[in-house]
Amino acid sequence: MDAIDILMKEHRSIARVMDVLERAVAHGRAGGVVSPVLFERAAYFLLTFVDGSHDAKEDEVFQAITSRGLPLGAGVLAALSGQHALGREMAGELREVVRAVVRGEQEPEEMYALAERYVRLHRGHTEVEEGRFFPMVRRLLPVDEMERVRARFARIEAAHGSLADAADALELAFCLPALPVRRVWGGRPQPWGGR
Ligand SMILES: [Fe+2]
Ligand SMILES: [Fe+2]
Repeated sequence: MDAIDILMKEHRSIARVMDVLERAVAHGRAGGVVSPVLFERAAYFLLTFVDGSHDAKEDEVFQAITSRGLPLGAGVLAALSGQHALGREMAGELREVVRAVVRGEQEPEEMYALAERYVRLHRGHTEVEEGRFFPMVRRLLPVDEMERVRARFARIEAAHGSLADAADALELAFCLPALPVRRVWGGRPQPWGGR
């Protein structure tokens, strides 16, 4: 598994969290109860594991590309970097909005709208990385450089813990049905209120 395989695998874990957020927003807007605490946990995941771990690993790839003076198409790297910054900003904002909702100072809709915007940003971003950026990195970075990047990934992972495990825990905590709404667990009531 090379550095790009690791990033692709993390994309699958993050995508599950995006699906969970999307379902939570739909459920909340349909009048269901979704505890703001769950959105706070999601914001923590976005800040710690998406920004702090995944995006940090991708920054290592960006640096490897730029330090070799390798050509990159039409500002793709700058655009992706800008989206990382925007994602970080939105995740921080989500955390603040959630706290305001808990204090009764803002409506849950503010939280839903922000989560929805984040999901949209992240899905578009991932599409560009997988469709354009990663294939370019594989063409441009030699195997030994890819190995060095992977070693730096291990240090980042050690500092934050496993992204996949954190995504699993979050998915379990939300415990929402898939869209469109279907019955799971033999039709027993779901713990909508969170834990
Ligand atoms: Fe990224
Ligand atoms: Fe990514």
